[in-house]
Amino acid sequence: MKYFKKLSYGLENTENKIFKGDNVEVLNDIMDNYRGMVDCIYIDPPYNNDEEYIHYSDSDGFEIWLEKVSKTLSLLFELLSDKGSLWISIDDGQLHYLKVAADKIIGRHNFVHTIVWEHRTTRENRKAFSNNHEYILVYAKNPCEFKEQRNLLATDKEFLKRFKNPDNDPRGDWQSISLSVQAGHAVPSQFYTIVAPNGKEHNPPIGRCWAYNEQRMLEEIKNNNIWFGKNGNGVPRRKKFLSESIQGLTPETIWFAEEVGTTDQAKKHLKSIFENQEVFDTPKPEALIKRIIEISTNEGDMVLDAYLGSGTTAVVSQQLNRRYIGIERGQHVYDIVLPRLDRCIDNLLSGDTAIDNVGYEFWSEDNNE
Ligand SMILES: C[S@@+](CC[C@H](N)C(=O)[O-])C[C@H]1O[C@@H](n2cnc3c(N)ncnc32)[C@H](O)[C@@H]1O
Repeated sequence: MKYFKKLSYGLENTENKIFKGDNVEVLNDIMDNYRGMVDCIYIDPPYNNDEEYIHYSDSDGFEIWLEKVSKTLSLLFELLSDKGSLWISIDDGQLHYLKVAADKIIGRHNFVHTIVWEHRTTRENRKAFSNNHEYILVYAKNPCEFKEQRNLLATDKEFLKRFKNPDNDPRGDWQSISLSVQAGHAVPSQFYTIVAPNGKEHNPPIGRCWAYNEQRMLEEIKNNNIWFGKNGNGVPRRKKFLSESIQGLTPETIWFAEEVGTTDQAKKHLKSIFENQEVFDTPKPEALIKRIIEISTNEGDMVLDAYLGSGTTAVVSQQLNRRYIGIERGQHVYDIVLPRLDRCIDNLLSGDTAIDNVGYEFWSEDNNE
């Protein structure tokens, strides 16, 4: 290992590591120790947008940019555990090129989905279109295993508001959902007239049929699982109880700013930490990374970010009690990543936390101190 251990911070014997260096070099050096062990890799590489940011340059040009990211991707995929997933942030400019390259390197059959993230909520009037979203490509070592193991999203307040109990059902709150389905694959026993308890007759809407056959429907009505509205005259609907739904929500492929934050909010957050410093230009919101990590890992699992930037992935992993490895080649490791992480660790250690793996080792290619 040609990296020099500079310092440790937080509790002793931590497994978390921050490396300062080029990610291809670092990944080659750590490969033997971590092959097949990383459960979530999130990367947010430069987007090849020809910008000179304060803390790094994004002006390699398309060919070199793609070659560099491809090299990093091929190494990253080797690190994934059996349930592991790889999440790649990118914008509209390079999404399609990167997708084709990643499919070649990783395998098309390892592709899971593209997530659309609403990264700004204000209108950009200087361009032909206001660019309000970015993408996250998701790949998995074994997509079936990933689907089995991935976590659902916690049910939120808005979701809970949909459940009420207008008939004081002792089984608790419920919401009503449609009882008719598209008739495309229907069998004849799904077409019949439902007679409500008050005698009113209901036929399925045109092009649709009932979800159950008549015998099952009668049983559901008897068991008070069908709702005919407050006055008994409404279109029949099925009662879906909160207790059936509480396990969590399947993640959707559109992630709105009000749930996972915007780039602007992420910048403001950094500004509030580093008041007298030039703010890092392209941070991701902690809420966005939290969602990725919560879907793909459990406590104690290993997370890696090979383009650490301002340290968001390391900070969120630390807060969520995941083990982490962060790689960043810029000098801002010293004045942004480490102080931000130290602050997070100080907060965790001063609070009433049961988290045991609080801290990190810092390894650097520089041997000048
Ligand atoms: C878009 S930023 C990442 C921002 C990060 N997600 C955050 O929340 O702050 C990209 C980062 O990758 C770093 N980077 C670019 N190429 C790299 C390489 N080959 N090895 C390590 N870091 C690299 C840049 O210095 C920059 O800090």
